Amino acid sequence: MNRTLTVGLLTGGGDCPGLNAVIRAVTRRLLSEGHTACGVLHGWRGMIEGRYAPLGVDDVSGILPRGGTILKTSRTNPFREEGGVEAVLRNLAGLDCLIAIGGEDTLGVAHRLHAEHGAPVIGVPKTIDNDLGATDQTFGFDTAVAIATEAIDRLHTTAESHDRVMVVEVMGRHAGWLAVQSGIAGGADVVLIPEFPLTVERCAELIRTRHARGRDYSIVVVSEGWPLTHEAGSGGLAMQTAEVDAFGHVRLGGVGERLAEGLAELTGFETRVTVLGHLQRGGTPTAYDRVLATRYGLLAAALAIEGRHGTMTALRGAEVVAVPLADAVRELRTVPRAYYALAEAFFG
Ligand code: F6P
Repeated sequence: MNRTLTVGLLTGGGDCPGLNAVIRAVTRRLLSEGHTACGVLHGWRGMIEGRYAPLGVDDVSGILPRGGTILKTSRTNPFREEGGVEAVLRNLAGLDCLIAIGGEDTLGVAHRLHAEHGAPVIGVPKTIDNDLGATDQTFGFDTAVAIATEAIDRLHTTAESHDRVMVVEVMGRHAGWLAVQSGIAGGADVVLIPEFPLTVERCAELIRTRHARGRDYSIVVVSEGWPLTHEAGSGGLAMQTAEVDAFGHVRLGGVGERLAEGLAELTGFETRVTVLGHLQRGGTPTAYDRVLATRYGLLAAALAIEGRHGTMTALRGAEVVAVPLADAVRELRTVPRAYYALAEAFFG
């Protein structure tokens, strides 16, 4: 048998359904081939503090359908902490390889550690925002879409009963994937996303047109990163606080409320808002996400065993393949015009 390896794994950034499925798959594959899996606690914070311990089969038993992450997570950025990178590199010396499961921030750190310091890292793409480059899909996204779609379905019946306009605010940061996909699946009458920002006036016009056709209720899905836009000029992003996190991100939220006020004023229709918030990230993953996360985990373990550092697992068509980490973090993957047009076909 080849050399026995010790492979660490961490989960960083916002949690999402399917993280535990990856942890289980990586651990099971490593152990079955005689290697050691080590769980790092609290993302990059755990690598700075050297907090990791071996995972056994019992530790990952029963976690496949569980949301969240048994390893816990954080938004710590070692490049922004005094001595952070040095501490990570010191603690990495105790591992043959580190598998980082995360989105653009977590994988951005993994990429820099590899590119600038030759660190033996491998990435696995997670995020409900689905905004990572080099992969057709991140795990967690399908579950978030299913949750948002169910919410839209439920809002339809109450909207219809009261002749109301229902605004549904979904997450997604600067990418409108979650809004577009759930909007298409839920039959939304307007979908507002950061990539192609319709104005409040245009949205009101679409709703008026629909009501003029005899409909007396409407569903508007708005992405949290839609820049509240009026004909008179942009109102900017709706933020919960002006503070930024360790990766320079503001906390978005609240755009739904402001949009609803504008729509009520412009149309005169009774309007209500639902902010789905962290419900979109909680709970059990869909079967699709469990399978995708499992496929990513098995491939990540194989890449670790083969020593193919600086790579990330990715979905390309129906295949799960390895791609350079650099390609994944180069730029955000946003919604293309043609995809938005699928939702637009049903506006108004
Ligand atoms: O990136 C995932 C995400 O859920 C975004 O859609 C959202 O803007 C953000 O995280 C929320 O972050 P937090 O969990 O820190 O409130």
